[in-house]
Amino acid sequence: SLVPMSDILEKANREGYAVGGFNMNNLEALQAIIEAAEEEKSPVIVQASEGAIRYINMEYAVALAKAAADKASVPVALHLDHGGSFEKIIQCIRNGFSSVMIDGSKLPFAENIDLTNKVIESAHAAGVTVEAELGKIGGTEDEHTVEDKAATMTDPDEAVEFIEKTAVDALAIAIGTAHGVYKGDPELDFGRLEEINEKVEIPLVLHGASGVSDADIAKAIDLGINKINVNTAFQQIFTAKMREVLEDPEVYDPRKICGPAKDAMKEKVKEKIRLFGSNNKA
Ligand code: G3H
Ligand code: 13P
Ligand code: ZN
Ligand code: NA
Repeated sequence: SLVPMSDILEKANREGYAVGGFNMNNLEALQAIIEAAEEEKSPVIVQASEGAIRYINMEYAVALAKAAADKASVPVALHLDHGGSFEKIIQCIRNGFSSVMIDGSKLPFAENIDLTNKVIESAHAAGVTVEAELGKIGGTEDEHTVEDKAATMTDPDEAVEFIEKTAVDALAIAIGTAHGVYKGDPELDFGRLEEINEKVEIPLVLHGASGVSDADIAKAIDLGINKINVNTAFQQIFTAKMREVLEDPEVYDPRKICGPAKDAMKEKVKEKIRLFGSNNKA
């Protein structure tokens, strides 16, 4: 069965590696994530955004992830990525998610704390893990765009206060990454990460990891990141493989198009798992 994300992240925090928060956008993405985690003997966090839930259907998404977790020999959590409202969080908990993110990062600090606490009260009563976000990660998620220049990084002292005032299980921080495709090379503020990690005990989450160099990812893990979200890089490799297969005009069977795309994504997931150091940690 699905495990709470905190089980997975507490071990990662103790032992100093990161676990992927990998987005499930369709059946093949779920297959790629689970097959890769199995082969690498890695715990894994399957996450679905509100948009992905709308696309797949809530009941289908949970049933698929639960079936995958029941069959898998590795721990699997099902996590809501960037939950935007209390109502959406409750809907996910009622349907069986084992973890939720409440993204109050656009709210004033005090309101982010209040909303996070409201979510925690319900989620923890149901044994569900809560991730919150402090600071603004650049780029686009769902229909919401944060202007790169206006994107503000997480303040270390605010992070301390946030955690003192909430019992949040994991905290997403803004240190220079952005969602989606980067315009230039991302510049991560490692000093800021180091300071946050010194002051904060709970697992830290890095969003927008597609397009960040392997060296920077390794450094971020060294400096305390325990969950790393990847979506765009997998979408890109999935679609590139589909395009390649579709060059043959004789192809018409969707399984012959999506199957190879799934396999290509699976290899990329395995690469990320090894980079994050969660292989053989199941
Ligand atoms: O952080 C956002 C995720 O990449 C989800 O993106 O809203 O397009 O599903 P989405
Ligand atoms: P990317 O799409 O940039 O990989 O970001 C994923 C993410 O942060 C999901 O929450
Ligand atoms: Zn994100
Ligand atoms: Na990115």
